Amino acid sequence: MSSASIVADVKQRARELDRDDPLAFTRNEFYIPTRSQIASTRLADSDSIAAESEDTSARKCVYLCGNSLGLQPKRTSTRLNQYLATWATQGVQGHFKPVEESPLPTWLDADARAAQLIAPIVGAFESEVAVMQTLTANLHLLMSAFYHPDINGRHKIILESKAFPSDHFAVETQLRHHGLDPATSMVTIESQTSKDNVFTTEEILSVIAAHADTTALLLLPGIQYYTGQLLDVARITSFARERGIFVVWDLAHAVGNVPLALHDWDVDAAAWCSYKYLNGGPGCIGGMFVHDRNSAVTRLISDEKPEEGYTNRLAGWWGNDKGSRFVMANRFHPVQGAAGFQLSNPSILDITSLCASLEVFELAGGMARLRDKSVRLTGFLEELLVKDYGDGGIIGEEERRLFRVITPSDPDQRGAQLSLLLDEGLLETVMRELERRAVIVDERKPNVIRVAPAPLYNTFEECVEFVEAFKEALATAWKMKCRTAD
Ligand SMILES: Cc1ncc(COP(=O)(O)O)c(C=O)c1O
Repeated sequence: MSSASIVADVKQRARELDRDDPLAFTRNEFYIPTRSQIASTRLADSDSIAAESEDTSARKCVYLCGNSLGLQPKRTSTRLNQYLATWATQGVQGHFKPVEESPLPTWLDADARAAQLIAPIVGAFESEVAVMQTLTANLHLLMSAFYHPDINGRHKIILESKAFPSDHFAVETQLRHHGLDPATSMVTIESQTSKDNVFTTEEILSVIAAHADTTALLLLPGIQYYTGQLLDVARITSFARERGIFVVWDLAHAVGNVPLALHDWDVDAAAWCSYKYLNGGPGCIGGMFVHDRNSAVTRLISDEKPEEGYTNRLAGWWGNDKGSRFVMANRFHPVQGAAGFQLSNPSILDITSLCASLEVFELAGGMARLRDKSVRLTGFLEELLVKDYGDGGIIGEEERRLFRVITPSDPDQRGAQLSLLLDEGLLETVMRELERRAVIVDERKPNVIRVAPAPLYNTFEECVEFVEAFKEALATAWKMKCRTAD
């Protein structure tokens, strides 16, 4: 078969897969930037955005970057305008006065509503989640509550050697905050078998076992940001907990991407952001999970030793029991559950934006349905990138030598994202060439591009469009590299 007929074949298959996709309707819930919008440097007004979004002749860009920043749901502006209308007409009353026909909760209840929507996405009871702060801040808050180093016994924190820098900084500075030296109290896991640092579960477990008696806390990512590897959260959690280690997960790349069952997996605590697969918007409010067993509050909070009634924490008034929050007494009595770890009254702007997107998750029918499509979508993309269709692949033999997929090919070990490791010296040109073709993915230095079809808004046809553009970008980058070497 010629390369042209292979492409024609896969295009036909992609069209059929999109036609038969039970979740195809959620794409229309999002603004997919058009090619001209993506290329433009001018601020668009809302009328033109709406018009262009409805214009079926306007070609859309190929946006495969939900792992970095999710696209904007159309209902976000509707909900934000409703929030603004409440503020404009009600002022401070918006905190507690229900407004007729408004789909929004009072601001006093906005955090509880957000917790209700996020709980099924992370597999938790409502009482176990709080929508609050941002990811790194939440990691610090969790460690401030649950990391209790004992210099002679358990003082170590285990994390991965190539953790996202913010997690690394958080751990390092927590250790120093406690007067400890990261050189002796920080243990980093590095794969002994994979040059891409893709772990086997056994490698992780063996590091935990080796440091079990001296480790207080384990912090790992549900999905590793660089390789896209999904870790076995349940097994690693159980292994570490059996050895007395408090287990925290960074779910930045896992939340809204893969189904999670944090309560059933017995996870101690977790934190996430909401701007990636959750489509809350840049820098939007994050979230935290605290297993019910770690957030109990006894009713006996004595004046002498108040902290004996609950886990001590860095507290603020929004974590105080709702019944006495506004009494303005200076005795902290935390709300039972994760909400008791809140500090400040949350940004309603943020929560409204996040909840608009969480409505779309509800419309889609939940994480299991999304995951079903996601596995097929990412599997299709992988096939297009690597499969030899008999007479070569979509990407020719020569270009195929210029990159490798480093994300595990087992769907159980990945989410939506595929990480493509490029040969030295190609990244800049490949990214520029993709952008020229209105294909949006992201890069992680030194040599990786991350490509993530999000099941809420991406299509099978877009996977084909990406691979065609990637093939051309690789060819150009290779030519440029050879020219520079000459
Ligand atoms: C894995 C991981 N951890 C932490 C962060 C930092 O998040 P934030 O800036 O919301 O604190 C990110 C951001 O992308 C991330 O991907």
